[in-house]
Amino acid sequence: MTTWLVNGQRDGRLSPTDRGLAYGDGLFETIALRTGRLRFLDYHFERLVFGCERLGIPVPDTDQLTQELETAREDCTDGTAKIIITRGVGPRGYRPPPAALPTRVVGVTATDASVKSVWREGIRVRLCDTRLSENETFGGMKTLNRLEQVMARNEWRTPDIAEGLMMTDSGHVICGTASNLFLVRDDTLLTPSLERCGVRGVMRRVILEEAERLGIVVQRPVVTRAMLAAAEEVFVSNSLQGIGPVTAWNDERYGVGELTRALMAGLAERGVQECTAG
Ligand SMILES: Cc1ncc(COP(=O)(O)O)c(C=O)c1O
Repeated sequence: MTTWLVNGQRDGRLSPTDRGLAYGDGLFETIALRTGRLRFLDYHFERLVFGCERLGIPVPDTDQLTQELETAREDCTDGTAKIIITRGVGPRGYRPPPAALPTRVVGVTATDASVKSVWREGIRVRLCDTRLSENETFGGMKTLNRLEQVMARNEWRTPDIAEGLMMTDSGHVICGTASNLFLVRDDTLLTPSLERCGVRGVMRRVILEEAERLGIVVQRPVVTRAMLAAAEEVFVSNSLQGIGPVTAWNDERYGVGELTRALMAGLAERGVQECTAG
């Protein structure tokens, strides 16, 4: 069950003229609620503020959002929280109204805390046909425009495939449908540059911090299919699942690599229980 608040109102309604609905004119965040804590909430807010500033949407009051998240979660301790910020309602036409009043939607869905992570032991991935457009105006942001991911995720129905990797228009491997991508080669951690495409994941940020703490060399190159095929370790990440080591891709099989394990242990110490061993 999900408890929703719209502009602070329980079960409040969204207007059909909301620009989030009409044009995808807005942003969202998906946050893990674990043992009563909204994990890395400050990082989610930083990305939301960065997106609002880029899109020219008035920055929401994060204290108010925190309060609303607390109200929506009631006594739920484990689940998924979501924040949607749109530019608000407006007249017909693309032109943003000069004095837009953003719409805030906050929701919390309870999940069963006893269910173990489905990613930790390794996942099978596929390479999707749907490509991602490159546009540096939107690079890194988590906007409401997710049709590319929707089409990519609709390419497969078999439950044995956990995630689909996506390529850009120019044929570079960039991310998963709902995750960031990492490769390991020659003791170096590689993650695609997100200047022109992709979402700057909160878990990606935590992984890069852990890599720095562990003294792992990090590069943010343009990643080709050949680099993916030649990688010694491959994993994906997101806020809800932590790290998903890629153990199967096409007919290839991999073990969970050493560097991946070290990063998972680091994340587990920072409260990402999905990465806890055993
Ligand atoms: C397209 C895309 N990229 C990356 C991510 C990972 O972001 P985060 O670590 O903030 O969950 C997500 C998460 O849903 C996503 O949808």
